[in-house]
Amino acid sequence: MKALVLSGGSGTRLRPFSYSMPKQLIPVANKPVLEHVLESIRDLGVTDIGIIVGDRASDIGRVLGDGTRFGARITYIRQDEPLGLAHCVRLARSFLGEDDFVMYLGDNMLPEGIEEIAADFHKHGPAAQVVVRKVSDPRAFGVAELGPDGSVVRLVEKPERPASDLALVGVYFFTPAIHEAVDAIEPSARGELEITDAIQWLVTQGADVRAGEYAGYWKDTGRAEDVLECNRWLLARLAPRIAGDVDATSEIVGPVVVEAGARVVRSRIVGPAIIGAHTVVEDSHIGPDSAVGEHCLLRATRLADSIVMAGATITQVPGLAGSLIGRAATVGPSAHVDAHHRLVVGDHTRVEVAA
Ligand code: TTP
Repeated sequence: MKALVLSGGSGTRLRPFSYSMPKQLIPVANKPVLEHVLESIRDLGVTDIGIIVGDRASDIGRVLGDGTRFGARITYIRQDEPLGLAHCVRLARSFLGEDDFVMYLGDNMLPEGIEEIAADFHKHGPAAQVVVRKVSDPRAFGVAELGPDGSVVRLVEKPERPASDLALVGVYFFTPAIHEAVDAIEPSARGELEITDAIQWLVTQGADVRAGEYAGYWKDTGRAEDVLECNRWLLARLAPRIAGDVDATSEIVGPVVVEAGARVVRSRIVGPAIIGAHTVVEDSHIGPDSAVGEHCLLRATRLADSIVMAGATITQVPGLAGSLIGRAATVGPSAHVDAHHRLVVGDHTRVEVAA
């Protein structure tokens, strides 16, 4: 079996981050989402991985390389425009050949593993197997309607009146039967070749399409809130480790990772929290639920429930929470005496100040 990971797309919901980085490289618990995805694929024993990449191909290539680090061989497949998930399958035709494959959306996190569903796919040998998860409000998702034998009878995108509470999760198992299906469909009203249309085409042709239910934690990290929630979930399972320097006047409470080369001075770190390599924390109170990347500087700051990306500087900010701070960003006091708030923020940035 091969894997096809989709890491193109436009990421409009994750602006401004997606202006400067592919959203699949946003760190959760200090590791890019895409690395979590590759580890999940590695746990299936799949080592031949095709990755669909868009404009930001070089950023992804720089982080993942040829895949050796993950015990895998990566083939990059360029998508010039995000024309839909089924378009990605069309583009990957020669990479996939006549193999079965797992298709994994590069911004989806299923940290509790999909080995059982993969085993089910191998055992029953359907033409395709979608992964579904019960959700409380299915109207925002693709929804699967199942027959009494558990086979898929219909897939509906974002239904107003969902016939089931089973949302399609961003992982699919396919046999080569999907290739005829992606060739047969037309773009949808939003101009994309939809994978749900291709799977529905298989169902209509009478092919055996099954659903495997995933009961674990699932997050589509498409929006800032989702990224923070996923960060909280992963941090809650953190194995504590202090490799950096924590001075005698600092206090570490609960599960905390302080990476090598980091320095914690006159500060209190409340886990779950990670302080990245070579980061300096001084006179600050960090955590809980916070992941601070490498080479950051946090001084006289209180920070909770946040992600701070590599190289950021935060000084004298007494109450930051629920925040996503980008790479090499600077947050701090004004240099002017009668300071107002002075903002130099990028397009589609969201700033919420305490009133
Ligand atoms: P989405 O999150 O549905 O789409 P998007 O990346 O365009 O985001 P937004 O809605 O915020 O603008 O895509 C799911 C995953 O599939 C994501 O990892 C991007 C990837 N993808 C492709 O690789 N090619 C495509 O043509 C599309 C639509 C998505």
